[in-house]
Amino acid sequence: MTTKHLHIKTFGCQMNERDSEIMEQLLAQHGYLPGAAAEQADLIILNTCSIRAKAEQKFFSLLGSLRQEKRRRPGLRIVAAGCVAQQEGERIFERMPHVDIVIGTQQFWRLPEMLQRLERGESKREIACGLDKQFVIPPFQKLLRNAPPALPEFRKFVTIMQGCDNYCAYCVVPTTRGREISRPVADILEEVELLVSHGVKEITLLGQNVNSYGTTNPVADRPVSFAELLKMTAAVPGLRRLRFTTSNPQDLSTELMRCFAALPNLCSHFHLPVQAGSNAVLQRMHRKYTRELYLEKVAELRSFCPDIALSTDVIVGFPGETEEDFAQTMSLLETVRFHGSFSFKYSDRPGTRSASFPDKVEEQVKDARLERFQARQDEISLERNQEFLGKTVGVMVERRGESELQGRSGSNHIIHFAGPDDLQPGDLVMVTINHAGQRSLKGELAASEN
Ligand code: SAH
Ligand code: SF4
Ligand code: F3S
Repeated sequence: MTTKHLHIKTFGCQMNERDSEIMEQLLAQHGYLPGAAAEQADLIILNTCSIRAKAEQKFFSLLGSLRQEKRRRPGLRIVAAGCVAQQEGERIFERMPHVDIVIGTQQFWRLPEMLQRLERGESKREIACGLDKQFVIPPFQKLLRNAPPALPEFRKFVTIMQGCDNYCAYCVVPTTRGREISRPVADILEEVELLVSHGVKEITLLGQNVNSYGTTNPVADRPVSFAELLKMTAAVPGLRRLRFTTSNPQDLSTELMRCFAALPNLCSHFHLPVQAGSNAVLQRMHRKYTRELYLEKVAELRSFCPDIALSTDVIVGFPGETEEDFAQTMSLLETVRFHGSFSFKYSDRPGTRSASFPDKVEEQVKDARLERFQARQDEISLERNQEFLGKTVGVMVERRGESELQGRSGSNHIIHFAGPDDLQPGDLVMVTINHAGQRSLKGELAASEN
């Protein structure tokens, strides 16, 4: 088998990242070495994201710049994968004829076969559009066992479900990822055990709405709630840290909240996207909870785990959002005082309901609202970070910088500290916090957690 060089650029969310990793594993079995620079690669995969117009534009502009590269090296293979590929399909060939394969979110495991057929001279139109939406969960277990070399990283994502049935009015995910489907429990646990046996210390369970795991279209061997799955995963011997993302507040159960009190290795961080603080906007977004229900869930969560760090996603400038609606988002921020948030300007996406809603908010108004939200969030994040001063927290080492180590607390804060040379990524230590910035904390090594 001749060695070929592979370059993958991932544009999207953690699930997109996990898909890139699976493609890498699959292709490794066919002689492709990952990690090559684009100019040296025999195969370039662009794993795309369609969540906002900007993400899609980034992909098309990078693809455009690869036209020259393809002219210079006609043997180069270029693959468009992921959510934009699923959405645009063959239209990508029309706009960018130098693309060899367009492969969607449900079919990427067919990539090695498609590449082989292309090499045999079959026409790309016939083979190269893997957009079938019938969902098949790729055979992760087998891939992991065959993947060379043993996985070195200490932190891994495990996809537990795919797709989404919520159809929030602004969101492309139900179209690009299809109907919600859950992976069987046994498969998930087997994968987690395998990863932990290869030295992985921290697992993040992934789904667009993990709270509805096992409830819609389950392929689970027996019906299991997300909280039960979490308990079973937390019990895998050797797993030091467990996280999950993302949760839709509408399905957040008390059973799940209790896990934060009951499972010592479940990290005390919860990402709970609220999107907006106004009930009128939430309703038009087709989010199936109210501001009041969201606040109740936050209070209940804090009753089980008072120190839990909360983060959220917010969209500003949804069609029809008035100043008063936006003030409600700002007041929700004051009430919850999130540790951090991801905030975005509303962006029209193809095929979504809100793309045809009237009363689009002007770009300058969106800019101003985003700036106001982010400025206030920055202040609150700093104040929240200052609450850590003098506290000693468990930190997992991530990497060694020039003069310091960088790690992460269970609350998902980045922590800088000095430590001995023998500390390795994945080691858990205790650090006493003595400086709080807006984006990170600093501290001193206390005693080892072990
Ligand atoms: N499944 C997750 C969200 C995944 S998308 C959930 O429901 O919580 C990540 C974030 O992108 C969303 O939470 C939302 O804040 C943002 N987003 C999605 N579509 C968007 C759009 N059309 N314009 C702006 N932001 C959007
Ligand atoms: Fe998109 Fe809503 Fe599904 Fe999240 S829950 S992926 S925002 S449709
Ligand atoms: Fe983007 Fe697709 Fe993830 S649209 S956010 S890569 S599910």
